[in-house]
Amino acid sequence: MKDNASVFFNDVKKRLNGDLNELMQYVCDNLSSVNSKYNWTGIYVLRNGKLKLQAFCGKETEHVEINLGDGLCSMAITEDDVVNEPEVKSNTRYLACFPETESELVVPIRFNGKPIGELDIDSDTKAAFTEDDEKYLLELCNLISGRINELFVP
Ligand code: SME
Repeated sequence: MKDNASVFFNDVKKRLNGDLNELMQYVCDNLSSVNSKYNWTGIYVLRNGKLKLQAFCGKETEHVEINLGDGLCSMAITEDDVVNEPEVKSNTRYLACFPETESELVVPIRFNGKPIGELDIDSDTKAAFTEDDEKYLLELCNLISGRINELFVP
């Protein structure tokens, strides 16, 4: 892990047992310190079959609630896998939020082996996300998943 990545990881660890909204907001607000290509960051949680936006950093999005089946965000849940789309504009499943977004990474947050939410990152750079980003962010999602599960409604 690069220096900033481990510093951020430890900062999240320190906040793990604090207020849940503050924890999620901290993650969203500070992820760009790990990689400046992370231009918009959000945490969605599955609640009654819909993905609900719980915290974000960046511009307001109209997609505060996403029906399962819509967009790349749903794919991460229904396929229970990371969605790494290097060119959002060429993916017909992509739900557009911001005109400047070029690539998107959606990382499932799993609890007891099942996806209960996700970390969604948009980048203004094409193909911004590498396998290292995926691995690191999966570890981060594993770290916070016990807390995120408090919001999960099956
Ligand atoms: N682009 C997402 C929708 C959420 S926004 O990126 C904030 C999708 O295709 O599901």
